Amino acid sequence: MSAHKINIAEIRKDYQLAALDEATAGDDPLIFFGKWLAEAEAAQISEVNAMTLATVDAFSKPHARIVLLKGLDDQGFVFYTNYSSAKGAELDSHPFAALVFFWKELERQVRVEGAIIRASDAESDQYFNSRPEGSRLGAWASPQSQVIPTRDVLDDNYKKYQAKFDGTSIPRPEHWGGYKLIPASIEFWQGRSNRMHDRIAFKRTKVSVWEKNRLAP
Ligand SMILES: Cc1cc2nc3c(=O)[nH]c(=O)nc-3n(C[C@H](O)[C@H](O)[C@H](O)COP(=O)(O)O)c2cc1C
Repeated sequence: MSAHKINIAEIRKDYQLAALDEATAGDDPLIFFGKWLAEAEAAQISEVNAMTLATVDAFSKPHARIVLLKGLDDQGFVFYTNYSSAKGAELDSHPFAALVFFWKELERQVRVEGAIIRASDAESDQYFNSRPEGSRLGAWASPQSQVIPTRDVLDDNYKKYQAKFDGTSIPRPEHWGGYKLIPASIEFWQGRSNRMHDRIAFKRTKVSVWEKNRLAP
């Protein structure tokens, strides 16, 4: 057996940094999410806006991957991707998704679930135009989720679009844009000692009315 073998079962951590109670979470989970995001940012956590996005395909099979949160407004959580990707097809056929943030340095997890809509063209254009040139070219060059025979295909595509848009502004491809998750539930998890964690869960009952419950860890 290799000397580098890790005893995974022995990896454990006791969480002792903080507590979370009902009063602290307040009445509006979007406001509280903003507060936790700001605290994660202030703690200099790398890629605080990275989140797991779980989707379901037409055969009810789940799929999960990381994407970046790029907007947060009164309506919900915005991320950008290729509409023709695997996740794009899944979201178009089954417009519900779940997000998970894990800020391990703060011993915190946030889970968000809800319906998915596409961001408006204006919103997608605005974000696309704010991206560095290389990322804008990448959106054209990558047929995301498709099998490609070699790396060269990507690099050649990139060069092709670089030449095509040379000296002009790079428009947003029609196959690329934002999705917005409109939360129906948001759960805040704060790690505590002895696996006796705090979980405060919000469920939306009406447009801006949230029911708040403590869940057993
Ligand atoms: C840190 C990190 C950030 C990522 N951000 C995005 C993103 O914002 N949008 C995106 O489409 N893919 C992003 N990806 C790549 C996705 O995880 C995934 O590989 C890609 O979207 C294809 O997923 P799909 O085939 O399920 O559609 C990111 C990956 C990592 C590790």
